[in-house]
Amino acid sequence: MNSFRVPKGTQDILPGEVERWQYLEEKARDLCRRFGYQEIRTPIFEQTELFARGVGETTDIVTKEMYTFEDKGGRSMTLRPEGTAGVARSFVQHKMHGYADQPQKLFYIGPMFRYEQPQAGRWRQLHQFGVEAIGSDDPAIDAEVISIAYHFYREIGLDGLSVDLNSIGCPVCRPQFRQQLIEHFRPVIGEFCKDCQERLERNPLRIMDCKVDAGHPAMATAPSILDHLCEECDEHFSKVQQYLKELGIPFTLNPRLVRGLDYYTRTAFEIIESRIGAVSTLCGGGRYNGLIEQLGGPAEAPGIGFAVGLERAILALDVQKVQLPMTPRFDLYVVTLDDASHVEGARLLQQLRMAGYAADMDYMGRKMKGQIKAADRLEIPFVLLLGEDELAKNVVVFKEMATGEQQEVALSQLETVLAEKLKKNREDE
Ligand code: HAM
Repeated sequence: MNSFRVPKGTQDILPGEVERWQYLEEKARDLCRRFGYQEIRTPIFEQTELFARGVGETTDIVTKEMYTFEDKGGRSMTLRPEGTAGVARSFVQHKMHGYADQPQKLFYIGPMFRYEQPQAGRWRQLHQFGVEAIGSDDPAIDAEVISIAYHFYREIGLDGLSVDLNSIGCPVCRPQFRQQLIEHFRPVIGEFCKDCQERLERNPLRIMDCKVDAGHPAMATAPSILDHLCEECDEHFSKVQQYLKELGIPFTLNPRLVRGLDYYTRTAFEIIESRIGAVSTLCGGGRYNGLIEQLGGPAEAPGIGFAVGLERAILALDVQKVQLPMTPRFDLYVVTLDDASHVEGARLLQQLRMAGYAADMDYMGRKMKGQIKAADRLEIPFVLLLGEDELAKNVVVFKEMATGEQQEVALSQLETVLAEKLKKNREDE
């Protein structure tokens, strides 16, 4: 019989590796708490139409990458390829624009699904930490959102990342620019890749970030969106830059930056680690002032957000050889020498666990030496030895693994001694 394996483009995250994921997730939650963003959990699947309308009919995500299926009621459903459309749908459905707390500042962490060709940093089930601030057009909030993404990476220990920034205008200024781009590329479009040829009329801005044709001379001479912003977009963009400078966030203007989703207006940004290979964008985001209205909400609900790819954050940690500070799994291990002490050991273990300690004992019938070896392998700092003599005297032998030092401790004193030893141990680290 064939053995089962994970589906292509997905992975198991096992103990030993999952701790890094938990660390990133905790960091994300802590940052969001400090910045005032609250968690939102939306369904993993939504009506297909939501993504078609939200993300855009002509985008790669919608035309090529969605996991779409018909449910038993004959409705077309899609596993979410990204988080913004679902959050925006939820905002509209729950009339969040009417909530007292404005803008609504939300975050999510969870799996997304895209049928892409897997490679390093590109998965079919990927995980994002994303934030969305909906209801404000203040350029200061653009900077706040970028600041969360930037500090996420800084606080997990990554360095040397670049924040690429652009404005892609609005429905007032973009059509004119779009037309100029079409005219610029039309004479040479035959020399571009098939995707770009299709993009010329549909979405000419996307030609600008084509990886295949990046070296074509027409790319270098293409008009810049930044020279074609309307007055309001221009002013907004200047202010975003001013705020970013005030917040001490380094950025690089990149007029070629266009995002692969249709809902963006004005600010667009990406955070890049160029050393991780072909798939170097760690995070992408931007403003989407028209999305809420497009999904049936009030016109006056402009939004901005980003999503961090967690697989790529892990990849960047590997490339930069960052060791995350990990808390040890266990505080102590109970070693028992015979049947009677095994019973007392189980009782003691329960008491210590209820008191808040992470503790374990042997369930494999190992001899004393084997039990101590197990504790050593798990890097447990303290071991309690318990045998016939100790039971008779109501004591345990308290052993410090690092020094090998042993002392008898009365059971009544155990928690006090343990608390002191652990405190000292943590201070020493
Ligand atoms: P996105 O650029 O499509 O934007 O994805 C954001 C990030 O998710 C990427 O920069 C990358 O790190 C990660 N990512 C995307 N696809 C994959 C994949 N196949 N494998 C691994 N990682 C991947 C969005 O999703 C927008 N919703 C971001 C946003 C939120 N804009 C405004 N609010």
